Amino acid sequence: MLDFSLSQEQLELQKMTRKFVQTEIIPYMKEWDEQHHFEMGVVQKLAQLGLMGVCIPEKYGGAGMDYNSLAIVCEELEYGDTAYRTAVSVHTGLNSMTLLQWGTEEQKEKYLKPQAEGSKLGAFGLTEPGAGSDAGSLQTRARRDGDSYILNGSKIWISLSDYADHFLIFATVDPSKKHKGITAFIVERNYPGVTTRPIRGKLGIHGGNTGEVILEDVRVPAANRLGDEGEGFKIAMSALDNGRFTVAAGATGLTRACLDASVKYAHERKTFGVEIGKHQLVQQMIAKMEAGYQTSQLLVFKSGWLKNQGVRNTRETSLAKWIASDVAFQSASDAIQVHGAYGYSNEYPVERYMRNAKALVIYEGTREIHTIMQAEYALGYRED
Ligand code: CAA
Repeated sequence: MLDFSLSQEQLELQKMTRKFVQTEIIPYMKEWDEQHHFEMGVVQKLAQLGLMGVCIPEKYGGAGMDYNSLAIVCEELEYGDTAYRTAVSVHTGLNSMTLLQWGTEEQKEKYLKPQAEGSKLGAFGLTEPGAGSDAGSLQTRARRDGDSYILNGSKIWISLSDYADHFLIFATVDPSKKHKGITAFIVERNYPGVTTRPIRGKLGIHGGNTGEVILEDVRVPAANRLGDEGEGFKIAMSALDNGRFTVAAGATGLTRACLDASVKYAHERKTFGVEIGKHQLVQQMIAKMEAGYQTSQLLVFKSGWLKNQGVRNTRETSLAKWIASDVAFQSASDAIQVHGAYGYSNEYPVERYMRNAKALVIYEGTREIHTIMQAEYALGYRED
């Protein structure tokens, strides 16, 4: 039987996260965005609330909740700003949950537990300057040397690059094997040869940290290999099944932020003698945001429902990510339109929403990658 209601525990989690966002993020976000400041204090407080390991089992330091609880947290966080939802996406969705799925008991004890507790931060290093959508063509090399591997290469567009303690790095042991040579490694920031540098000049997510990770003759113990040699591409794709879910959930929060801001403004602003909410073309934009919000949330919760049952959900998660991020971008653009010239200035948050929303349509699989995946599923060229 379908059940669309949230449990008591989920309602409390939603209330707690919403309150946190209202008091700890929203009042400061304009300033942090202007100053390009990522506030680690927020992450520490999220950890204290158990929000850095929402659906990691308690035995590994997490809160032991389900996938839709993680979605609730991501929606609320992105209502405040994309930066902190992105932090949870890469730390929990892309890194910790991948350690949970693929790690040995030793790796879980050493790396997953402190990450789930929030005392250490994890990031995800797949994308390279020459390999974004075509992740299987990555060039970072891993050469076996006794009980270790030597890694050389560089990763780009890595969220939390300057703050993460542990990186999940994907490298190839044999480029001639294409994606079947890709292997995953847990790389500690303090290993000699690891350097990071932030990327300046981004359109949006100014309040978040994004950068490069450079690996020069980094010696990584073989015990830090995640899965087998050649299993890395599958591991990366399974990680993206979780990361994309959190992006989709976050996008619903961004859409709700656009909707709330637009509804408020539509009641306040008057033109032609009435509040602008009375004008049908303004109503049309608000109706589209409402429909988009509800649709996105249904797709997210369906994907979470499948995940809770341990069912492969690449198709549903890709659809949720595609639709929810497109809806968020369109909603943000319309929210500016509703606000008119004021929306174009940073007097209101909607211009920040639009700059941030553009990232959602690009990272963790562009709109085009998800469009192709959905076409291939429908045509029977791809199956899970
Ligand atoms: N789970 C497990 N295995 C999977 C899988 C999944 N979800 N998806 C694919 N695989 C397996 C396949 O079964 C296949 O296995 P075999 O070789 O044994 O047959 C193998 O992986 C290759 O799969 P595909 O044939 O689907 O691979 P492809 O070359 O056609 O590429 C793609 C697929 C969909 C284009 C993929 O490359 C892709 O998703 N690209 C986008 C990359 C991306 O999203 N990058 C985001 C980077 S992270 C980021 O943005 C983070 C940040 O900081 C915010």
